[in-house]
Amino acid sequence: MRAISIEPLSAEHRREDFDCGEDPLNRYIRQYASQHQKKNIGRVYVAVEPGEKRVIGYYTLANGSVAFENVPKSKGLPREYPIPVVMLARLAIDRTMQGQGVGAVLLFDALKRSAEASRVIAAYAVIVDALNDRAKEFYLHYQFEEGLADPMRLFLPMQDILSLLDQI
Ligand SMILES: CC(C)(COP(=O)(O)OP(=O)(O)OC[C@H]1O[C@@H](n2cnc3c(N)ncnc32)[C@H](O)[C@@H]1OP(=O)(O)O)[C@@H](O)C(=O)NCCC(=O)NCCS
Repeated sequence: MRAISIEPLSAEHRREDFDCGEDPLNRYIRQYASQHQKKNIGRVYVAVEPGEKRVIGYYTLANGSVAFENVPKSKGLPREYPIPVVMLARLAIDRTMQGQGVGAVLLFDALKRSAEASRVIAAYAVIVDALNDRAKEFYLHYQFEEGLADPMRLFLPMQDILSLLDQI
């Protein structure tokens, strides 16, 4: 795989031609990502090739919470309160770069940042709402588990992420 660098989205990045094959994810990076950053409702990280500014992939992180009833392996968690999580709100790779390991690199980067954030502000898991079955298969490949109430809402407990990162 070619070397990539992962950077917080800034005005320098070129994203007008980004195309991952999914319109909502294309629209998001082209039109809404900067606004969300400014309003502090999403942090967007982009992948670029070294020395380039063309976005070849991106993901977004935000804080969130989920109902106890949706959490798999919830033994020992309080039923009375929402469970804090990190939301991996979007992850997308440009069509020209799919199938070359960029998605895996971005996913691990997102998990690493989530783990770092969770040392300061607790998060029980990283969760993702899969856009479709193909996206769901990608996350299942990385040991995410289905939520109990919504099969498209997938969980990876922070405990598992921390031990995974310890092994790298
Ligand atoms: C899904 C997506 C992010 C994967 O990124 P990618 O760069 O193509 O994937 P990678 O090349 O990094 O693949 C890494 C691993 O995941 C596997 N994988 C990739 N896509 C997969 C899928 N849909 N189902 C199961 N496994 C998948 C690969 O086989 C590879 O496995 P290996 O390391 O064991 O060989 C990308 O195809 C994409 O942007 N799709 C369109 C947008 C989308 O659906 N995003 C998800 C939104 S919720």
